Amino acid sequence: MKIGFIGAGKMAEGILSAMPSKKNVIMAEKLDARREEMGRKHGVRTTADANEAVKKSDIVFLAVRPQDVDSVAAATRDSLTAEKTLVSIVAGKTLAKLRKAFGRKCGLVRVMPNLALRAKAGMCAICPAKGADSKAVDAVAAILSGAGKTVILKERDFDAVTALSGSGPAYFAYMQQAMERAGAKLGLKKDVAKLLAAQTMYGTAKFLNESGIDLAEFIAGVATKGGTTAAGMEELAKGGAFEDIVARTLSAAAARSKALA
Ligand SMILES: NC(=O)c1ccc[n+]([C@@H]2O[C@H](COP(=O)([O-])OP(=O)(O)OC[C@H]3O[C@@H](n4cnc5c(N)ncnc54)[C@H](OP(=O)(O)O)[C@@H]3O)[C@@H](O)[C@H]2O)c1
Repeated sequence: MKIGFIGAGKMAEGILSAMPSKKNVIMAEKLDARREEMGRKHGVRTTADANEAVKKSDIVFLAVRPQDVDSVAAATRDSLTAEKTLVSIVAGKTLAKLRKAFGRKCGLVRVMPNLALRAKAGMCAICPAKGADSKAVDAVAAILSGAGKTVILKERDFDAVTALSGSGPAYFAYMQQAMERAGAKLGLKKDVAKLLAAQTMYGTAKFLNESGIDLAEFIAGVATKGGTTAAGMEELAKGGAFEDIVARTLSAAAARSKALA
């Protein structure tokens, strides 16, 4: 199958990097320098014309920012014929909105990825629209599986998915940054605090993932009574304030996802 991308930003490059063969790929990108970079780094064909990418592809990933969707739709909707499938990774844009913008004919799939796919450890939720070609949906799932884990979900879950896994990498980076800064405040050299925070974040995620251990059991195991971790955890969990911040963080992101629709 021939694969196209409209927008060659961070997410598009992440998906592209996970594809075993880039022979049948064409990328449409507005920025000259970025087009040149994609051609040089990945050996893919590039164009400045989104419509050309649509015409030359069976499956087209829509990877532009939400505010650019309408102009892309105006330029490409006539070329999105029944045998083509449009795969939108755009935050907040519902299948109904995409259908309205891109016309009735093509297959549609909505995907919510996250930035971790750039390390082939992404999390992608997939929701095919009614009538989407099953071979194309399988091909999309296979491409995204190369970039991490995938799950097929109903569209009603997408605001929550966007808030949790879609936006989640930024929350973890923020936590790591806070740990780094707090370590430095305790007297560690900045580069040492940075190393410690990064490896702790990475190693913990790796262990939790590989062991499948229950989280409460893991925390209880590290935070033994009267110990140092217990003292830290007591402060972190005081009055449920931290859980409350996380809940409010996800609610704000989910509300924004709804508003973008
Ligand atoms: N980043 C994340 O963590 C994340 C997570 C989940 C979902 N998403 C979704 O993924 C989408 C892409 O995000 P991103 O972070 O990859 O954005 P990005 O890095 O800004 O990439 C978008 C690219 O598309 C280009 N573009 C805009 N209009 C175009 C057109 N008509 N034809 C060709 N290229 C065009 C942009 O060029 P200009 O800069 O010149 O406009 C830009 O290079 C967004 O809709 C976002 O909601 C992102």
